[in-house]
This record gives sequence, structure tokens and C-alpha cells, in this order.
Amino acid sequence: MDRRQFLTTTAATLAAGGLAGTQAFAADPVKIGFILPMTGPQQSTGRETVAAIKLYMAQHGDTVAGRKIEVIIKDDGAVPDTSKRIAQELIVNEKVHMLAGFGVTPCALAVAPLATEAKIPELVTAAGTSIITERSPYIVRTSFTLAQSTVPMADWAGQNGIKKVVSMVSDYAPGVDAEASFRDQFTKNGGQIIESIRFPLANPDFAPFLQRAKDAKPGAIFVFVPAGQGAPFVKQFLERGLDKVGIKIIGPGDVTDDDVLNGMGDQVIGTVTAHFYSADHESALNKKYVSEFEKANNGMRPNFMSVGGYDGMHLIYEALKKTNGDTNGDKLVAAMKGLKWESPRGPISIDPDTRDIVQNVYIRKVEKKNGQLYNVEFATFKDIKDPIKAAKK
Ligand code: DHB
Repeated sequence: MDRRQFLTTTAATLAAGGLAGTQAFAADPVKIGFILPMTGPQQSTGRETVAAIKLYMAQHGDTVAGRKIEVIIKDDGAVPDTSKRIAQELIVNEKVHMLAGFGVTPCALAVAPLATEAKIPELVTAAGTSIITERSPYIVRTSFTLAQSTVPMADWAGQNGIKKVVSMVSDYAPGVDAEASFRDQFTKNGGQIIESIRFPLANPDFAPFLQRAKDAKPGAIFVFVPAGQGAPFVKQFLERGLDKVGIKIIGPGDVTDDDVLNGMGDQVIGTVTAHFYSADHESALNKKYVSEFEKANNGMRPNFMSVGGYDGMHLIYEALKKTNGDTNGDKLVAAMKGLKWESPRGPISIDPDTRDIVQNVYIRKVEKKNGQLYNVEFATFKDIKDPIKAAKK
């Protein structure tokens, strides 16, 4: 083979390879790696989120812009080092086009540098610390921030005769956000925080902390516990008799989580919290969501983590429609910015400046309806942006 022949052959091979590559691109599935806690203390978030992903795909099909959607679900047990190792495997071996999920803040943060390096979206559907979206330009969020729920809660408390509060939070990033944003807004409203208590995230024994809170004689305790810990917290609150001496529970709605609310007993009737989703939300779309979700999952009620996952799938589908199936990470993130839609929780959008969610926050009271306990919404704070990021501007 002379030199000219060699060059021609190489060029022809490259051209063929290039073409084959293009064809493979069109036929290849879009791969989404969900990293979620399917085991361990945060498993209710994984279970609720996976049920919502499956429901979304059952309702909307598994093909978008001519490409099949392949969801890979991996269990990180809510351990950040595990999330990071799994993310690496998903990027390198599975060649996923997007990462999604993240049941707790430390797991979302651990993966942020990998999303930046791989230039693929990291869609946070569960975790709620403000700073997460600032850790990578590829992070977009469909869950919430603690401050989003907490600031309206502080306004409501200030306007409804609550004067002295003991703050009680899980001692990690979202708890710290909740504690600070409640304190700032509540004191601005003339309220007083008489004690700030933090308890460990892992296997907390709430009893001694609740005793301390009771001894401080507040009108209410402001509480943040992550999804899954609401039931044991409320059980110990009642066992210690804090309700009997007139102390109310207030806080973001994680404590009266729909996943466990119905098992808490009638003593929680009247508890007021602020949050972005209640299974009782009055809309046709939510009625359909709840009934199809319960039907597909043996009566399991959808909670706020489930809608984060459901809306995450919607965001992925709509972004792919906008890019015509192109999975380039920069194009996907650009397509996600500014998207607006109606969620089972109400109207939502992705803030194009921060990639964080903008949503209504509702004040709700636990009531019994048809023999079941629900967070019944009675006031709405509209189109709330993350207050912590808004304050930095
Ligand atoms: C986080 C986790 C939760 O389960 C929750 O309810 C709120 C926040 C978090 O780790 O960010």
C-alpha cells in the first residue's frame, strides 16, 4: 500500500465510523442514573421517589423525541462516599447522560464535582439545602429548599400569637438552614427563640431533647427532621406529654410527612406546618396523581419526595423535547432553565438564574377526612424563590 492509498483508506474508515456513530446516537437510549436511598433510615425517600418515576413513565411512555428512556436506579443508602462511587461507575461504565435523585444533602454535594467534570446534569429531586445548586452549574432542582417552607412558617407563627419558640433540628446542613431562616424571620416578626437544639441525624433519641424543650416552656417547638423521622419524633413528643402542657409543633412539613402521617394518631390533629406538597392538595391533576399512585402501590400515599421525583421526570422529558433528543449536558441544562408547568403540588418553574425551583408554599393543618389524617392546605404563599439565595443578591 503506498502512502496515498493508505490515506484514502483511513479517510474512508473514519467516514464510515462517523456515520455509524451518528446512527448509533439516534438509536441509543437516553440513560438516566438515579442515585437514591433504597435501604437504611432514609429509605422512605427512595421508595416514594421510585414509585413516582415508574408512574410518570407509565403515564407518559418510555420514548421522548424518538429516543428510549432508560432509568437505572442505584441504592446509596444515603452514604455520600457510596453516592460518589456509584456516580463514577454510572458515568464511566454506563455512560449515563444524566444523574438524578439524592435523598440527602451530603449525597447531592458529594456528586457535584463529578457532574461538573462530566458536563452532565445532576438533577436533585429530594435534598433541600440552599447551597446545593451553587456547587455545580449542572445542578438543577425539583425538590425544595428548607428556607422556602420555613420563612412562610415564621410569618404565619408571628401573625398567629406564637411568641416563644424552641427550635429543634437535625444537626446537618438542611437543619442548619431551617434553624437560621426560621430564627431570622421569626425574630423580625417580633418572636423570640428561647432555645436552639440540634440532635444527631443518625439514630436520634429525641426524648432527652424533648424534655429540655418542655422545660423551657415555649408556646411551640419549631422542628425539622428529615423524611422518615417524623413518626418517631411525634411519638416521643406525645409520650413526653408536650401536647398536654399546650406546646404546639410547627415547622416545614417534613415532620407531618404524608408517608407516615396517617399512622401518627388523632393527637396530631390541628398541627400546623408549611410545605410545598400535600396529598390533599385541591387540584384535578393532584387527585389523578394520588389515585393512580395509590392504585399502583398498594395504597401507599404519595409524599413530598415523590413529587420531586415525578417533576424530575417531567423536567427530563420536556428538556429532551426541546433539544430534539440531543443529550449534550450544556444543552439539556439550558433547556431546563425557565421551564414552567403544573405539578401535582401546583404551578412550578425552574429559575433560569439559579436553576432552583420556584413554587407555592402552603400553610396546612392536620385534619381528619374520610377517616384519614391529611395536611389540609388553608393559605398560600405564591411563587416562592429560595429565600437564602434571594437574600444574597
Ligand atoms: C433533606 C432530606 C430530607 O429527608 C428532608 O425531608 C429534607 C431535606 C436533605 O438532606 O436535604
